[in-house]
Amino acid sequence: MAITGSGSAVPANLLDNQGLTKLVDTSDEWITTRTGIRQRRLADKSESLAALATAAGRKALAASGITAQDLDLILLATSTPDDLFGSACQIQGELRASNAVAFDLTAACSGFVFGLVTASQYIRTGTYQNILLIGADILSRWVDWQDRRTCVLFGDGAGSVVLQANSCDRLLGFELKSDGSQNNDLNLAYKPESTALSESVNVGKGNFQPITMNGKEVYRFAVQKVPEVIDKALFRANLSVDQIDWLLLHQANQRIIDAVRSRLNIPEHKVISNLAYYGNTSAASIPLALDEAVQQGKIKPGDVIVTSGFGAGLSWGAAIFQWGR
Ligand code: ACO
Repeated sequence: MAITGSGSAVPANLLDNQGLTKLVDTSDEWITTRTGIRQRRLADKSESLAALATAAGRKALAASGITAQDLDLILLATSTPDDLFGSACQIQGELRASNAVAFDLTAACSGFVFGLVTASQYIRTGTYQNILLIGADILSRWVDWQDRRTCVLFGDGAGSVVLQANSCDRLLGFELKSDGSQNNDLNLAYKPESTALSESVNVGKGNFQPITMNGKEVYRFAVQKVPEVIDKALFRANLSVDQIDWLLLHQANQRIIDAVRSRLNIPEHKVISNLAYYGNTSAASIPLALDEAVQQGKIKPGDVIVTSGFGAGLSWGAAIFQWGR
């Protein structure tokens, strides 16, 4: 398989750190030094997840030179669909990709990497030829905007890539992991209230609660597990760390990116980071940063990219691929 094009889309509304000081007791200095984030884009009521994802998908299709009609599969990595039944079919309808099957994949901030590996298996088995993979999230819908420990971290966006069958397999190695024993460290949980339908039958009607996170634990987990999983993926790819061109991690916190880079002994100039401008956009963060680096001409065909996603689940994974056909 080969990754032959990328695209991205973000909402127009921008909230900088100064703007957040009007909502919660925080400062630009605290947010910048602890996270590296300076601003984030936030979707307003009129902007749907499907619309953002579709916009990113259209650009990836154009960049790869195929049409929506060529698609066999649309895979949407998201934790914030417009509809709990899934949003991938809405995107399929919008794109008029009538030959494609479409479904959602939920793996929080690991969603793009899990999606990349999942999609590539369909190509490796010869089942599908052309796949649109989109990572998109609107976490602003689920953030408690009164909670300074979380609201400063997140932003909204979408990023996308096209995967195509190719004579040379450009997915060089991967490793995926889950640990449900730490599930309570990061949640966007459903809270049921008992509702009686009859004397003997109750159902749990309720609502999803805002994001809760044990920041310190998630930080510790990321700094320990991400280098390990990258090492494993490098081993599977039979590559040494000095053979990689770019380190592209889930954009959660600049301190996590710096710590992982330093543990792996990767020089600073090989790190891709745009977290300062978008915050943590969950499943969108990797393809958003990837697309930006491609647009800027940083990433070139043949470059070896190490990518790693990590987050709720807890889940984490790494994938190593070569850009282009
Ligand atoms: N502004 C000012 N002060 C704050 C803020 C804020 N926004 N948030 C917390 N504080 C205060 C705390 O109350 C605390 O004060 P206290 O010492 O008086 O109690 C102090 O700052 C330190 O708080 P910590 O939580 O210890 O801060 P820490 O240095 O751990 O940084 C952070 C917090 C940025 C959240 C960090 O822990 C982190 O990045 N964790 C990982 C998050 C992550 O990567 N998530 C990725 C997955 S996301 C997903 O999957 C959807």
